Amino acid sequence: MSQLSAIIVGANAGLSQMLAQKLSAEGVQLGLLAANLDGIAPLLEQLPDNTLAQEIDIFDSNSARDQFNQLWQQMNGAHLVIINTAASHQDLELPWQEEKMVIDVNVSGFTALTNLAFANLCEQGYGQLAAMTSVAGERGGANSAFHATKAFQQNYLEGLRLHAQRKKLPVTISDLRLGFIEKMQAKGSKAWGANLHKMTNQILNDLKKAKHTIYVTRRWRLISWLTRLLPEFIYNKRKFK
Ligand SMILES: NC(=O)c1ccc[n+]([C@@H]2O[C@H](COP(=O)([O-])OP(=O)(O)OC[C@H]3O[C@@H](n4cnc5c(N)ncnc54)[C@H](OP(=O)(O)O)[C@@H]3O)[C@@H](O)[C@H]2O)c1
Repeated sequence: MSQLSAIIVGANAGLSQMLAQKLSAEGVQLGLLAANLDGIAPLLEQLPDNTLAQEIDIFDSNSARDQFNQLWQQMNGAHLVIINTAASHQDLELPWQEEKMVIDVNVSGFTALTNLAFANLCEQGYGQLAAMTSVAGERGGANSAFHATKAFQQNYLEGLRLHAQRKKLPVTISDLRLGFIEKMQAKGSKAWGANLHKMTNQILNDLKKAKHTIYVTRRWRLISWLTRLLPEFIYNKRKFK
């Protein structure tokens, strides 16, 4: 493979679309996976003709793996795989169907794809797997399934990193721990948001440096560290509407 190439799973979100545009501007050939190809049609119009796209059903692990592999084979492998797909919900009554949906996407779907991407990268002998997790994964929270599944993702990625080291392969595993994205700020203070340009620039710079655990934006490293130090009787005093 002479041209650099990247696969983005969950391409129909603001963050992944901006990543796709910036990677493409750097000459990276892209393969995009999205639940609904119509949704990424406007993005595809802005990308070079050699961009490939494939529909993916994250709720059906076996199909999702087949769909990922079809794209992988079409592209003859990839240097970088970014997993962006994730589900969340905001109902503080924690309805089981919603919790289950989050677990299906963030645990079953996530594991099906990261497991396959890791195996493919190992077989290829090099490459980088990056996944968007969240600072929410570092402690429990009101969106219980979201916090818990992001913790699972962080733990699974650390395990994959251990296997890459064990196999002595130049396969990098990057855990992108995101804070809040600006579009979510309707519910909170704008001061906690970070605009997509800043986030995507930082993500691409840190991925190029093959960093393992990346806080996006950087101030979330300190906030996370302080949050982890809080005793539970203080941490649980936060108010939720
Ligand atoms: N928004 C934030 O403030 C925030 C904070 C911390 C971490 N993150 C993480 O950063 C990543 C991107 O977040 P985002 O807010 O830009 O996008 P998002 O709304 O979390 O969606 C990312 C992708 O996940 C898929 N998706 C979303 N909801 C789904 C559902 N209910 N069922 C199945 N698939 C679903 C979609 O994939 P398709 O493209 O295939 O449709 C979408 O493009 C996610 O991993 C998220 O957990 C976000």
